[in-house]
Amino acid sequence: MYPTPSVHSTALDPATKPLVQVEHLTRVIATRAQRTIILDDVSFSILPHSLFAINGPSGSGKSTLLNMLTGIDRPTGGKVIFAGGRHVGIVFQFFQLIPTLTALENVLLALELGGGGGLPRGQWRRRALSCLELVGLAEYPRRLPSELSGGQQQRVAIARALANDPSVLVADEPTGNLDSKTAHQVFDTLAGLVERGKTVIYVTHDRELAARANTRIELLDGRIVAQQGAVAMTEVAR
Ligand SMILES: Nc1ncnc2c1ncn2[C@@H]1O[C@H](COP(=O)(O)OP(=O)(O)OP(=O)(O)O)[C@@H](O)[C@H]1O
Ligand SMILES: [Mg+2]
Repeated sequence: MYPTPSVHSTALDPATKPLVQVEHLTRVIATRAQRTIILDDVSFSILPHSLFAINGPSGSGKSTLLNMLTGIDRPTGGKVIFAGGRHVGIVFQFFQLIPTLTALENVLLALELGGGGGLPRGQWRRRALSCLELVGLAEYPRRLPSELSGGQQQRVAIARALANDPSVLVADEPTGNLDSKTAHQVFDTLAGLVERGKTVIYVTHDRELAARANTRIELLDGRIVAQQGAVAMTEVAR
């Protein structure tokens, strides 16, 4: 079995300590000709066990913000604070599976690269299989990505993101490349992880999927223009 994360309530208690705190985050891209502010003083908190949506129009800064959470990009100003250390699994819009590796091998590769999430090497295969099982793909460990549907490929990618047992999963348009029915199925898989104690942060253009979040922020031109749910804003002296 998957090393069982305890089952937590998804109810968000505002007194709960944030898992992620984003404080006055700014990202500026400067060229010789001009200075473009892509993120402008963005602050919010993410509570543990959130299903947290980031939405907003194209170019509003959603991917830039996610890349700050995963450490792919660095802020120009401000900071991101992870309680208990940064340990994040990433799910990409275009799956980014290795085409020559089977579903199981793709998950095993993440264990290899991530050091096995503290598990001894002898248990990696079992862990990888249980991650595939968790996303409903127990039957297909030996299939190559090209032998799987888009939704199945994205579920392999979710299994891979779970391999090292991160507390946070970050997904940029995880269903953006799927038809609507498959998108909802894959989203159900992601949302189900919250009940297993994970925090899922996702970007979506889809209104219905955004509405399923228990917390949501909306960006426009690099600023938060709306928020819903238990976003405990941190008051930080500037
Ligand atoms: N390296 C870069 N150099 C210059 N501009 C950039 C760079 N990266 C992003 N931008 C600009 O920053 C803005 C925000 O980009 P970002 O990719 O975060 O948007 P997004 O909300 O994810 O959009 P989409 O929904 O289309 O994915 C855009 O106007 C984009 O053109
Ligand atoms: Mg984007």
